[in-house]
This record gives sequence, structure tokens and C-alpha cells, in this order.
Amino acid sequence: MSLATVTDYTRRVENVRETLREKELDGVLVLGPANRRYLTGFTGRDGQIGESAGIVLVTRDRAVLVASPLYSEQARAEGVGVEVLELRERWYKALPEHLTEWGVRRLGFERDYTLYGHYEDLKERMPVGSELLPLKGVVEEMRVRKSSAELEVLRAAARIADEAYARVVGSLRPGVTEKAVARALDEAMEELGAEGPSFPTIVAAGPNSARPHHESGDTVIQQGDPVVIDMGARYEGYCSDMTRSFSLGRADDRYLELHGLVLQAHLSSQGAIRPGLSAKDADAVARDLLKAAGYEQEFSHSLGHGVGMDVHEPPRLHKDSEDTLDAGMVVTVEPGVYITGYGGVRIEDTVVVTDTGHEALNHSPKKEPVI
Ligand code: GLY
Ligand code: MN
Ligand code: MN
Repeated sequence: MSLATVTDYTRRVENVRETLREKELDGVLVLGPANRRYLTGFTGRDGQIGESAGIVLVTRDRAVLVASPLYSEQARAEGVGVEVLELRERWYKALPEHLTEWGVRRLGFERDYTLYGHYEDLKERMPVGSELLPLKGVVEEMRVRKSSAELEVLRAAARIADEAYARVVGSLRPGVTEKAVARALDEAMEELGAEGPSFPTIVAAGPNSARPHHESGDTVIQQGDPVVIDMGARYEGYCSDMTRSFSLGRADDRYLELHGLVLQAHLSSQGAIRPGLSAKDADAVARDLLKAAGYEQEFSHSLGHGVGMDVHEPPRLHKDSEDTLDAGMVVTVEPGVYITGYGGVRIEDTVVVTDTGHEALNHSPKKEPVI
């Protein structure tokens, strides 16, 4: 498995410097955890909202990983191609004196990851005449097309989820709780090498399966229940994301109809994935089909999203998206139909957009409505 090399990190920081020059900035602050790991290799995890494990500052001649004593040793051990600045006060209070020393007056910051309170505190302490400029998607745009090494890691993350699914669902019987199944899936993924799940594993049974983001609970899975399992592994910093739906042991006619329709929507929209296709047209393949069958309102979310170091990242495959698919992008295809009080069906694969079409990363069985 080839992970990012020193050269990769250096090139990524150089790419940020291009934005810096284009926008005539003296520095860029990177706060997003996945962006930070992509630029430096530092794996620290943020705490609760506003508690950052580290901030990256890229100037024309420095790349600095700013961390509190809680994380500075880890930052030194893991950070590639960066100097570590340990601050014993909050970064938005203590960084300005260093910015003055380093001649940073026009400073860009990631608007999607900066709390308004931190922005205000930072602004108040910046030298007179300096400017803070909001930036959007600078590092995310660099991450949107995956290198062949990144694709290898994403394939491995998907394989882990497939293997864990086979182990756990292969022996699933009525009488276990959603939570117990979710826990077994998480344990299997970790045994197979995952850092952990890429998001809280969703096991939803009976009417709970009508909630797309159900929190797995104490509901006991019964014979004949519709079940939705949405899971993914985080492996070497990269995520997988897959959903399977089935009815346990037997299914009523309604379930068979819903499963058949969602499968058709999934297969036809996945079949359409290729470079040059607009994300909104990809969404429309599934949406038009489900609408024609009378389930327009019941398909209550978008077709999919990009997957990489974040489980949800650009491009967005929704009906108003302005994104266009391109080779190297990795996206999910996940139509669903949800009937409140009854249950739901969602079928999701993650696929790579290739030069000529697509490559599915998940291979767990998805066509059988009953298992
Ligand atoms: N697990 C959330 C999603 O599939 O996007
Ligand atoms: Mn999912
Ligand atoms: Mn997804």
C-alpha cells in the first residue's frame, strides 16, 4: 500500500502557495481536519466544536503546524515538511504576534471551518492594516481528483467494509438489536485494519429504516423486518461508504416493489457514471425513475457525494449541483425511498470515475431483497 510521500506533501503545500500568489495573500490558515492531514500527515482529531488539534499556516516561505501542548508532540512526530509551533494560549489569541513577526498582513482562512467567535478574536488582535480574507474549498479542490495511490487506499477501505459486512450479515438472525449488529460491524472493520468506522454505523430495522440517518438503538430485529445497513471503514485516513437493504427471512409485496425500484434506480444511475456527466444529470437518472413510479417525495436526499478523507466531500450529486464528473473523482450512488411508519430501502456503492466510465469499489451482494 503506497501512502503519501514527502514529495506529495511538499507538492500539496506548493499548490496552496499558488492560491496564495493568485490572491496576493501573505498566508493561508487551514483548519479543516481532513485538509490539515492532507497537507501535513498529522492525524490529530479535533475535540468538541472549537477545540482544534492543530492549524496549518502556509506562508510564502514557511509551512507551520500550530498546536497546543496537548498535541504538539504528536504533531512533531507525524508532521511531514512542516515546522511545529507550540502555543500555550488559544491559537486565535496567540498567533497574531507570530504573524506580525513573519510579515503576514493579508491572511486567508477557511471560512467553512472557522468559528465566528474565533474570527472576531483573531481580527481584534491582528496588526493594524492587516486583512482577514475568507477562502472556500482551496484544499478540497486539490483533493477532489484522487491519485492512483489514494485510489489504492480507497479500494482497501471499501474491501474492509465488504469483508466486515459478509462476516456479520452472513450470520444475522432475528432477535439481535440494531446496536449489537452495528458494534459487530465496527469490531470486524477494526480487526480488518480500519482506524474505525468512517461515520457512526447505521443499522435500522422495521420502521426505523425510514430514517436515512437512524441512530442504531435497542430495537430488536425481527423476522420480516426491512433492514438498512449503512457503513464504511476509515483506513489510512480514507473512507468507504456503502449501504445495503434487505428484508430479514421474508418480505411482503410492498417491500419487494420498493427494493426492485430502488435497485433499478441504483443500477441505472451507477451505469451512467462517466467523465463529462453533470452531477445533476446523474441525480436525475435515479430521481426521474423514482418519480415516474410515484416516489418523488420519498426520495428525500441527493443521489450521492464525493468520498475521500472525508466521508462527505465534493462533488455533490444533487439536483441543483453545478459539478461535472471527471476521471479520478470518487462518488457514491445511493438512491433511497423512505415510507414513514413502514420502512425504507437505500442501496449505495462508492465508485471511481475512470477515463471511460466507472469502477465500483463495493462488491457486497445488493440484488436480493430477502436474506
Ligand atoms: N452514511 C451517510 C451517507 O451514506 O452519506
Ligand atoms: Mn452511506
Ligand atoms: Mn453516502
